[in-house]
Amino acid sequence: MHKNVERVLIPRDQIDVRVRELAAQIANDFRDESGGDEPPELTIVSILTGSLIFLADLIRNMPLMLRLRMITVRSYPGKSMTSQPAEIEGRLPDDLTGQHVLIVDDILDSGQTITLVRDLLAERNPASVRTVMFLRKDTEPARETHVEYVGFDVPDEFVVGYGLDFDGYYRNLPDVVTLKREALK
Ligand code: IMP
Ligand code: MG
Repeated sequence: MHKNVERVLIPRDQIDVRVRELAAQIANDFRDESGGDEPPELTIVSILTGSLIFLADLIRNMPLMLRLRMITVRSYPGKSMTSQPAEIEGRLPDDLTGQHVLIVDDILDSGQTITLVRDLLAERNPASVRTVMFLRKDTEPARETHVEYVGFDVPDEFVVGYGLDFDGYYRNLPDVVTLKREALK
């Protein structure tokens, strides 16, 4: 275990099982909607950088025709551990007319990021917009933000690993963990 890890909240084998389950559930929901014919194509809009590892595991378990679009949203610059107003960096897809969109993100905290992205994508004429979050923190705004799919609910603590970072580090840890106090400086 990495020396800065305080405790493992979600071990890698549990993540693996849950991600496969989520992928199957999402793929089934899309198939059901199509009424038995060819399932509709899916446009995935993934929010970098935190969703990267979740995204890679999720889509490899989704046997659908799908395309990927990546966007960047800044909300926790540098060592900040509280949400700042979210801002999109770079361009959003211009036209999503008739497309079924699935937003993929790492963690729901204040809900600002996902609300911003969802509203901006909804203006671009998609056939549907749904959201899958790998984690949801136990905060009031997170509980009040509507998302269709959630991997795990976690306590209101700062977590890293499986894509989530502190100051850009720890994304490569395969488990979701909390860090020792002295590492959060
Ligand atoms: P929101 O806009 O407050 O919901 O913030 C969501 C974004 O903040 C996430 O996409 C993460 O990038 C970041 N974030 C929130 N909580 C954590 C955490 O515990 N660890 C690492 N990043 C976090
Ligand atoms: Mg993020």
